[in-house]
Amino acid sequence: MQSETTTPQAVTVRTPQGEDGAQAPAVLLRDIRHDFGDLHVLAGLTLEVAAGETVALVGPSGCGKSTLLEIACGLQRPSSGTVAATPAALVPQRDALLPWADALDNAALPLRLQHVTRAEARRRAEPLLAELGLSGFERARPAQLSGGMRQRVAFARALLTGRDVLCLDEPFGALDAITRAEIHRWLAGALAVQPRTVLLVTHDIEEALVLADRVCVLSPRPARIVAELAVAGARPRDPADPALIALRRQALEALRAC
Ligand SMILES: Nc1ncnc2c1ncn2[C@@H]1O[C@H](COP(=O)(O)OP(=O)(O)OP(=O)(O)O)[C@@H](O)[C@H]1O
Ligand SMILES: [Mg+2]
Repeated sequence: MQSETTTPQAVTVRTPQGEDGAQAPAVLLRDIRHDFGDLHVLAGLTLEVAAGETVALVGPSGCGKSTLLEIACGLQRPSSGTVAATPAALVPQRDALLPWADALDNAALPLRLQHVTRAEARRRAEPLLAELGLSGFERARPAQLSGGMRQRVAFARALLTGRDVLCLDEPFGALDAITRAEIHRWLAGALAVQPRTVLLVTHDIEEALVLADRVCVLSPRPARIVAELAVAGARPRDPADPALIALRRQALEALRAC
């Protein structure tokens, strides 16, 4: 993201900088307000995500989670507030795959944009699709894939950008429970080998607790953070762990209370 400051709406967008040598957060959102016309969507929301941290955002439908993620990625400019973020790859809520391109070309798109030849880009993307359980579907077009398969292609595409920050908008919502648990395991392993910063929007509190270091609970629109839960332990965590069950209860209580 380029350093820039805009007025008159008091929006500042800049790259993060550490103070006094301290490591800068990978994503810094300060006092973010956003309106779509008369619709107040974000009500002064502040969130810092440290480099290598995974933060999950949970909240009621329509509260502004996707809007917040788009703001964090620089795709949407907030009505006011400060955004400082390392360039991020977004897996949008709707997968946004190219309908005419097959799964491999869709996943390999970021490499093509980096001027890698098509053959080489496909060669590099293929093992990742296999790891995500898509062997045999490399040549399938999006219309020939299930919703969960398309999500995994979109996820592969985000990973292949090589960017350090991943903004994932309900990336695994269409997966069956077993495939989802496999992808959680795969992602936890991948993040252990190559740490990245992850901002994960999910409706599934269990998914948030299994994967995230911190879970932010958002209020209904206009959204603000009503609870933040720190989650300890190696990932992916066991959802049957009593500590996780207690945190799940806390998150649900926070959601019900607002
Ligand atoms: N481009 C837009 N123009 C006008 N209103 C919008 C736009 N995008 C989102 N909205 C509205 O802003 C609110 C927040 O939308 P958003 O998609 O961020 O919610 P969400 O929390 O991601 O919801 P869900 O959990 O259902 O995905 C909704 O009321 C939506 O109708
Ligand atoms: Mg959304």
